[in-house]
Amino acid sequence: MMNKMKIRVGIIGFGRMGRCYLKELQRNVAYEVAYVCDTDAECRELARRLAPEAQAVEDDQTIFDDESIRAVVLCTTADARLQQIRKAVGTGKHIIAEKPVADTLEHEWEAVGLVENATVMSGANMYLQNAWYHAVMRDAVDRGELGELAIMRICHMTPGLAPGEGHESEGPSFHDCGMHYVNLARWYAHSEYKTWHAQGMRMWDWKDPWWLQVHGTFENGIVYDITQGFVYGQLSKDQTHNSYVELIGTKGFCRMTHDFKTAEVDIHGVTETRHIERPFGGKNIDRLIDEMAESILTGRRSEAMPSFRDSAIASEYAWKMLEDARRNELPSIGTHEELEEIWEHRRNLKDGYGLLPRLNKNV
Ligand SMILES: NC(=O)c1ccc[n+]([C@@H]2O[C@H](COP(=O)([O-])OP(=O)(O)OC[C@H]3O[C@@H](n4cnc5c(N)ncnc54)[C@H](O)[C@@H]3O)[C@@H](O)[C@H]2O)c1
Repeated sequence: MMNKMKIRVGIIGFGRMGRCYLKELQRNVAYEVAYVCDTDAECRELARRLAPEAQAVEDDQTIFDDESIRAVVLCTTADARLQQIRKAVGTGKHIIAEKPVADTLEHEWEAVGLVENATVMSGANMYLQNAWYHAVMRDAVDRGELGELAIMRICHMTPGLAPGEGHESEGPSFHDCGMHYVNLARWYAHSEYKTWHAQGMRMWDWKDPWWLQVHGTFENGIVYDITQGFVYGQLSKDQTHNSYVELIGTKGFCRMTHDFKTAEVDIHGVTETRHIERPFGGKNIDRLIDEMAESILTGRRSEAMPSFRDSAIASEYAWKMLEDARRNELPSIGTHEELEEIWEHRRNLKDGYGLLPRLNKNV
């Protein structure tokens, strides 16, 4: 029975992210999941089991044709996104889109233009903007605890998706994952990128860098360095990662790290020294869908909700940084045989970083 008070939503793409959205939408009283769409029959079969309240459909057109649907969540890979955004805007449906908002920069900017000239609400899952630990650190900056923000140091290295796996169409790891950190630095700086100097490493004879470090400046003089790579102990007996953000001001500093279960923040400000530990929060989809529900229900776009423009800018600079790395001596260390060993190892891992979803598991 249709609940007219709820936002009827269709999820398009029921892979790893689609399943995360389903869980959060089912928990959120503002929403009613009416459709799950996937071109893959096994994914639709799984959808029927996990979302018996919804219709599992193969063709997204069914969702766009249904006037009772108010919002869509777009979480296929990026190659299908632009035409779904066109349809959503054309049929007046609010849009939550995975990043990148389309498969090429030209398409991403077209998507930005489409939503910025439409009355529908839109948000992109640049999930770090919705993380509690970054909100706490930005608040410390805003309260002047650090003096003036001067230096940002960002690092995210995990075993992660191996070259050739997963989102190949969305670029090397520094684009696919690194664009989150490119976005985060800009979000903290409140400014636009001015300069960048990048060094990459092509591990295991792969065509693209799978590790990249970039540093440079923002228009307002703040400097940054970002290190991202899915090269951190791919074949180590016990896998781990290294992920942190440090903000250094003229007077104090703060930093965070996490183990994907708990995040920790340390603030060493001028008036306070605090250590905060709370659950990590995953991809913060609960926050994103709350922001969207608030936007739809109030008719005013939530300022906290990451925008398509944020995603397109981050994507554009991640590509520019990758281009710079190609100009700056891109060495290769490691062999293709090692990469084959990594693929084989990941095929047999039950619990690992960025593993592709197995259909018999929920996520
Ligand atoms: N925001 C984040 O932190 C984050 C994390 C992981 C992935 N992502 C992004 O989310 C997107 C999905 O990633 P994933 O890991 O869930 O991928 P996935 O491959 O697990 O899932 C994609 C699903 O979309 C389906 N699909 C493809 N084209 C379709 C179409 N035209 N209509 C309906 N279904 C279609 C596929 O069959 C597949 O089941 C990617 O763009 C990825 O970059 C974002």
